[in-house]
Amino acid sequence: MSDAARLAFVGAGGHSGQALYPCIAQIPEFDLVAVCDIDAARAESAARRFGALKAYMDVATMLDEANPAGVCICGMPDMHHSVSLQCLQRGIPVWMEKPPAWDLKGAVELVDAAKAAGTFGMVGFMKRFAQANAIAKEYLDSGELGPVSSITLMHGAGKYDEFRRMLLFNGIHMIDLGRFLAGEWVELHAFGAQTSAGTQAISVSFTLSGGGVGQLNINSAHTWQDTFEQVYLTGSEGGLHLESGRDLEVISQKRRFSAGKGLQTFGWSARYTTSHNLSGWFSSGHHTKGYWGELSHFARAVLGQVEPVATLEDGAQDMRIIEAIVQSLETGQSVVVSDVS
Ligand SMILES: NC(=O)c1ccc[n+]([C@@H]2O[C@H](COP(=O)([O-])OP(=O)(O)OC[C@H]3O[C@@H](n4cnc5c(N)ncnc54)[C@H](O)[C@@H]3O)[C@@H](O)[C@H]2O)c1
Repeated sequence: MSDAARLAFVGAGGHSGQALYPCIAQIPEFDLVAVCDIDAARAESAARRFGALKAYMDVATMLDEANPAGVCICGMPDMHHSVSLQCLQRGIPVWMEKPPAWDLKGAVELVDAAKAAGTFGMVGFMKRFAQANAIAKEYLDSGELGPVSSITLMHGAGKYDEFRRMLLFNGIHMIDLGRFLAGEWVELHAFGAQTSAGTQAISVSFTLSGGGVGQLNINSAHTWQDTFEQVYLTGSEGGLHLESGRDLEVISQKRRFSAGKGLQTFGWSARYTTSHNLSGWFSSGHHTKGYWGELSHFARAVLGQVEPVATLEDGAQDMRIIEAIVQSLETGQSVVVSDVS
């Protein structure tokens, strides 16, 4: 496998077993050389099921013996932070699930460690790799829609007990998607509601560095089986609508394939649907949701074939926005994101 990067994976729990390890066999550039989990049974089971050469229970031993060119990490935020530091300090690039740490300080430490060692890290913002979102980004970058004038991000998920946890484990995805599509957030004002046990709702208004405005509405009043996700974005002559990173609808006169004058059509839109064919392997959503894309990109970044994206810097900036939202919720004041340290 000379065209594949020798990669290790730390953490063999629930999410990685369902969503991440199953992608590896479909990534030619990803050679899984080692799996590590402090739980021996989990490490051995993952190594057996997903084809790693060896299972380990200690990260340092694995790094010494397996000598991986990169490491993927999936566990709790303190583990993302501590295992990433271990790898980065040896100059080994990392990919980790979100959030990169429990707080902004920890996320910035990872940025600094990667810089000091001359290496890089990526964070698991898989929505950037969800197919419709990626196509929307290419379309926006083409300039056809003009500069972003507004973005509305909506997400409904299952229960959370408090605002910060909902933001760290789930809201961070929509914050990152908002930055990916519409650019940096400058100033924000957040309102929160806790209407019953486990039901949190946060509404954030924000300004964008390019001059536009935005709105984030997230809640934990939905279900995990059937989460809700919509993005509506406008430029100067139309807009686009994204449904769950799967469907992209472009609403623009320029996208019309004919004038349609005889039909007197009004409000015609170009609808791009990336996957309504739910047969076969794709039905598990690994491609559609972006899990395959983020791991594939990491493997190719380790090989030097592509630049890393969804970087540690992005992770730290998303964490800064979370701190700004929490601060606004606590004080009732607007917060300038760059003032948060
Ligand atoms: N992007 C998504 O769609 C999505 C969805 C669900 C969860 N997640 C993220 O995934 C993470 C949770 O992953 P999970 O469900 O696999 O967690 P988990 O708790 O089931 O598994 C974590 C594993 O890490 C192991 N571990 C802990 N410390 C270790 C260490 N120092 N060295 C080696 N192994 C260690 C544990 O024994 C456990 O097996 C969270 O950070 C969450 O935010 C992301």
